[in-house]
Amino acid sequence: MSNRRPLVAGNWKLNGSRAANTALISALRAGLPAQSRTDVVVCPPYVYLAEVSAAIHDSVIQLGAQNVAAEDSGAFTGEVAAGMLRDVGCGFVIIGHSERRACYGETDDLTAAKVAAALRCGLRPILCVGETLAERDAGDTLNVVRRQLEAVLAVTGAEAFSAGLVAYEPVWAIGTGRTATPMQAQEVHAEIRATLARRDATIAAAVRVLYGGSVKASNAKDLFAMADIDGGLIGGASLDAAGFLGICKAAAESY
Ligand code: 13P
Repeated sequence: MSNRRPLVAGNWKLNGSRAANTALISALRAGLPAQSRTDVVVCPPYVYLAEVSAAIHDSVIQLGAQNVAAEDSGAFTGEVAAGMLRDVGCGFVIIGHSERRACYGETDDLTAAKVAAALRCGLRPILCVGETLAERDAGDTLNVVRRQLEAVLAVTGAEAFSAGLVAYEPVWAIGTGRTATPMQAQEVHAEIRATLARRDATIAAAVRVLYGGSVKASNAKDLFAMADIDGGLIGGASLDAAGFLGICKAAAESY
């Protein structure tokens, strides 16, 4: 419980089709209250952004992308720029997801450049941080998360980053059905906020820190009850309307 408005974002990852997206969005529109007490964001694959943008028109649902180029324009085949994401209606973009880091070799430096690119265009980055199981077992969790966040703050500064969010996603909890306990998550969220506070206490108090990793309607309430957990970044459960709506309800009730 905090004075920060919660945010629940659905990261659809490499899933969806025009038909499935239409069905999912219409179920979400029908199930979300007109005056939502939580921010609700869906993040479809790039090719569906414009169509989903039209489908969520005049609803409480907001749009995000799953990745962005570090460059603004030019000869970068296959990339999509932050300005283009704004142009099709995105307000948010997920950056530095552990799948980007692990599968595509994205480094802390590239992640920082992407966050800077998003902020230049008025897109709100959702910066993902989190440790692997080996790092947790080695007692390195807080160091890893601090390093990942500091790499970005060193480039953007705290003031520009105040438009952004952080998502703590322990790699061992993603898609595994194994969630961090509320206490385990809270410990890391508090460290994320402390890292921000070392640069600016006011900004640290305002930035929302989301938890991600096997969040479901059944475990969301206990996670969102923690002092420094301000919502969730949801993978698998965001593809199921009832599950995602249950998580949004839990977030609204935590506020
Ligand atoms: P799951 O909710 O499927 O574990 O995925 C979490 C995630 O990676 C969200 O970005």
